[in-house]
Amino acid sequence: MTRCRLLASLLLYAALSNPAAALVSKDGTTGRLPAMGWNSWNEYACNINEDIFLKIGQRIIDLGLKDAGYEYVNIDDCWSDKSKRRDPKTKEIIPDATKFPRGISYVASKLHSLGLKVGIYSDAGTNTCGGYAGSLGYEDIDASTFSKWGIDYLKYDNCDVPSSWADQYEYMPHYPGAHPAPANYDYATSNTAKRYNTMREALLRQNRTLQYSLCAWGHAHVERWGNNTGHSWRGWGDIRPTWDGSDAPGWNWGLMPILDQAAKVWNYTGFWGRSDWDMLEVGNGNLTIEENRSHFALWCALRSPLIIGARLADAKAPMKQEILDILKNRELIAFNQDNVYGASARPIKWDGKADRVHPASYWVGRSVKGVHLFMVNTYGDTRKMEVRVDEAQELKDLAAGGGSLVVHDMWSGKDIGTVAGGVKGVVSIDVKSHDTAALRISAVGA
Ligand SMILES: *[C@@H]1O[C@H](CO)[C@@H](O)[C@H](O)[C@H]1NC(C)=O
Ligand SMILES: *[C@@H]1O[C@H](CO)[C@@H](O)[C@H](O)[C@H]1NC(C)=O
Ligand SMILES: *[C@@H]1O[C@H](CO)[C@@H](O)[C@H](O)[C@H]1NC(C)=O
Ligand SMILES: *[C@@H]1O[C@H](CO)[C@@H](O)[C@H](O)[C@H]1NC(C)=O
Ligand SMILES: *[C@@H]1O[C@H](CO)[C@@H](O)[C@H](O)[C@H]1NC(C)=O
Repeated sequence: MTRCRLLASLLLYAALSNPAAALVSKDGTTGRLPAMGWNSWNEYACNINEDIFLKIGQRIIDLGLKDAGYEYVNIDDCWSDKSKRRDPKTKEIIPDATKFPRGISYVASKLHSLGLKVGIYSDAGTNTCGGYAGSLGYEDIDASTFSKWGIDYLKYDNCDVPSSWADQYEYMPHYPGAHPAPANYDYATSNTAKRYNTMREALLRQNRTLQYSLCAWGHAHVERWGNNTGHSWRGWGDIRPTWDGSDAPGWNWGLMPILDQAAKVWNYTGFWGRSDWDMLEVGNGNLTIEENRSHFALWCALRSPLIIGARLADAKAPMKQEILDILKNRELIAFNQDNVYGASARPIKWDGKADRVHPASYWVGRSVKGVHLFMVNTYGDTRKMEVRVDEAQELKDLAAGGGSLVVHDMWSGKDIGTVAGGVKGVVSIDVKSHDTAALRISAVGA
């Protein structure tokens, strides 16, 4: 008993005495809210070059995306020289001179002059996922190089970890029972956490604020310690532009399996640290218009980073206006970027099942504007979806004043009805197959 108490107070002391315990940026803003931007991976993979990033920067402005809040232009894997790797003397990573003839710092300064920010990619292993130089063992050098180049955001991947760095109890969220750990095992002490913390320390030693995005795929229960390490942490494998399912062996996933995982760990998201449900596939692949809408609405509801993954600069296949309208929906973005409420919307109801095809369908969240309901129809036909006021404390609070409630549609920007009946009142709306109703509820006169 005494020993337990002593241990507890020691742990508390350790948490309080470590100023790095939460990654609150010195500038007071970087990483407080979910990042918004664009990343090259989903549409360009390794086929990247200077020209693409400069064009994308201009397109983000011309398409009104910068005005909507998108600010980071992120270079993903394959930017460095695959054979030369590092400078033999300084050990700095060498950019690919064909793809980036004027270096990464040139791209950064051009994008900065457009009022945008710049992200880069590295890996907490020997090689990146594409086989380029990784940062494990070179954290200080790489953090300093990225800072020198003017980088504002680091996406830090998890490929090619040497066996000496393997976790004692490997944990993968899509296969949770694989390597069971003792009940009270603390994943913050895992090698995965150590690899990511080493880069955090290196970044904090720089004279520059970088947003730190952990791409740890939900491994080692990153949601339990990620808030101390970075501003966001990937919670699952890679996204692909389909509704459900996954590729064998379970590496690339549709939207619904990701939402199913989000329903399990929604409560770890808040200001300064959040689950990252991966880059947006809105505008890619074979999604229907309803699926495109759901994808965006749900990622906004989860207060996940909003990183566009579609081609913005393709003259042959310009982005459709309807897709652009989704990405620029001001009310959904405002929910995602709320300054007062940082938590993810929370799941309140499942439509009969709770799996990777039919995950939680009813989500509720708060913003400065009111209480929001997100209702996703996971079925193949149009359905009436309903939430009774007494099914969510947030709605009961609104109804406590006794008046009726106003229902506002965040997609159309219009009020669409009122709900009377106090706690027995029902918010009800028809939702098309794979579409998501995004509603804001407020008290009359509020
Ligand atoms: C740190 O950055 C500031 C502002 O960018 C600059 O004025 C200062 O000289 C830098 N200090 C060092 C040690 O590089
Ligand atoms: C989130 O909820 C789980 C239970 O589902 C709990 O164990 C955990 O402590 C919670 N974490 C936070 C940060 O609220
Ligand atoms: C993450 O850390 C920040 C800064 O200390 C804190 O404000 C926030 O509540 C934490 N998030 C969660 C979910 O505990
Ligand atoms: C939905 O977006 C996809 C990419 O996600 C795009 O290819 C498709 O054309 C969009 N659907 C419609 C109906 O606009
Ligand atoms: C889109 O559908 C076509 C035809 O069914 C298929 O060949 C293609 O792989 C799909 N694309 C994606 C990205 O899933």
